[in-house]
Amino acid sequence: MVVSTGSSEREGWSSRSAFILAAVGSAVGLGNMWRFPAEAGENGGGAFVLFYIFCVLLIGLPVLLSEVLIGRHGQASAPESVRRVARDSKAPEGWSVLGSMGVFAAFLILSFYCVVGGWVVYYIGVFLSDLFQTGLSGGAFAGRPAEEIETLLPGLFGNGSLMVGLNLGFLAVTMFFVARGISSGIECVAVYLMPMFFVLFLGITIYGAFTGNFGDAVTYLFTFDFSKLTGEVMLAAVGQAFFSLSLGVAGMMTYGAYASRETNLGETSGIIAGADTAVALIAGLAIFPIVFAAGLSASAGPGLMFQSLPIAFQAMPFGSLIGLLFFTMVFFAALTSSVSLLEAPTAYVFEKFKLSRPVATVIVGVGAAVLGILSALSFNELADFRPLALIPIFSEANFFDALDGVTAKLFMPIGAILTCIFVGWVADAKLIDDENGLDGVLHQVWRALVRFVCPIVLTLILAAGLFPEWFAKAMSELQQGFAVVFG
Ligand code: PHE
Repeated sequence: MVVSTGSSEREGWSSRSAFILAAVGSAVGLGNMWRFPAEAGENGGGAFVLFYIFCVLLIGLPVLLSEVLIGRHGQASAPESVRRVARDSKAPEGWSVLGSMGVFAAFLILSFYCVVGGWVVYYIGVFLSDLFQTGLSGGAFAGRPAEEIETLLPGLFGNGSLMVGLNLGFLAVTMFFVARGISSGIECVAVYLMPMFFVLFLGITIYGAFTGNFGDAVTYLFTFDFSKLTGEVMLAAVGQAFFSLSLGVAGMMTYGAYASRETNLGETSGIIAGADTAVALIAGLAIFPIVFAAGLSASAGPGLMFQSLPIAFQAMPFGSLIGLLFFTMVFFAALTSSVSLLEAPTAYVFEKFKLSRPVATVIVGVGAAVLGILSALSFNELADFRPLALIPIFSEANFFDALDGVTAKLFMPIGAILTCIFVGWVADAKLIDDENGLDGVLHQVWRALVRFVCPIVLTLILAAGLFPEWFAKAMSELQQGFAVVFG
């Protein structure tokens, strides 16, 4: 659909529900099913998960509303939208750098996101061929021991050219839909694929709950151990909250720009954050019971989803078919996210350089392909390359982990802090109030969160994560202080 924005005619979502599905599609993706369980496992479980939920409610949700609101007011690519809000607020237009930073971060994320998308495609192939070999009714991988199934992923990691091929394939599919535009490309993917995803996802989770070690998973994910809440864990949790909600990287600003004036942004943001968090927690409850039942390590990191679920599918009747359907659904979820990652820089490039949408898509896509190849090779040929060896918290990271770490732990929190300062302090309060769709107490709470709580808490978390020793020392001094005061 083409919406008239006064000055120019541009594309927009065809309805409010199309916007919601596309935004939920952007939020729900590999972040929920692959990154969330991996991060939770690597950061000690319960402390991470509960702090993550705290971050979503107190920081993620207010920032999400701030981002879509900037986009809807600006009706343009992220940097231009921020510039227009600044201009209409009589504030310095240099604030547009907030949008540019986000666009750049989205581009970086896109490059490694498509690498993981490629793994999903590989697993679709694995289950498809298994279906032909073992037939429909039995479990997957008939008669093969669990250890052998676990070697599927390391096997893939060791094959550089296959990794690169899959990565480029996934990126090409993403480019195809973005090049087609909003209503016949991006919206189309979301409207058909997201509902299908939800049905299958719930089915598999309910099945897993009855067959796996559900009790242990619940204890692991929801037992809060305060001593485990280090600066690094907190920064990881806030980074995961932003990654999962697609925040701090211009994605939600870009999607907000296609929303109509009638859409209530406050309500919509609540739906997006609620759906995304529910999927992450359910994914945790689907994956960890299997991890524990199969005796795998919770801190297995990026491999968790790819290694634990295939083992579970082996025990299930119709296992190969369920495995095939599951990874197909993950593929859909990943695709609705990767299109949003590509859309943010593409919208910027075609607007800025006055290019057609397909040409801009190809330019951004080729750039992402180059970085993506380096990421894909960091599991094999370039395994020893440490691009950020000089920065302590990233010193051990290969190219792939460095991109992931820098975007989630630096770009996203910094982008969010600047967004809060911009919306809470710089932009015209009346302009903001006209857009946000909130009234009464909710409005007051949101404003207080954006102005005070989010920027302050985020700055502290960022400092604590970047300087963990300093934070640990401050915490132990604080504890000693408490001990003295309260005996
Ligand atoms: N939120 C997506 C996911 O969870 C990833 C993403 C991040 C998409 C940032 C857009 C912008 O998979």
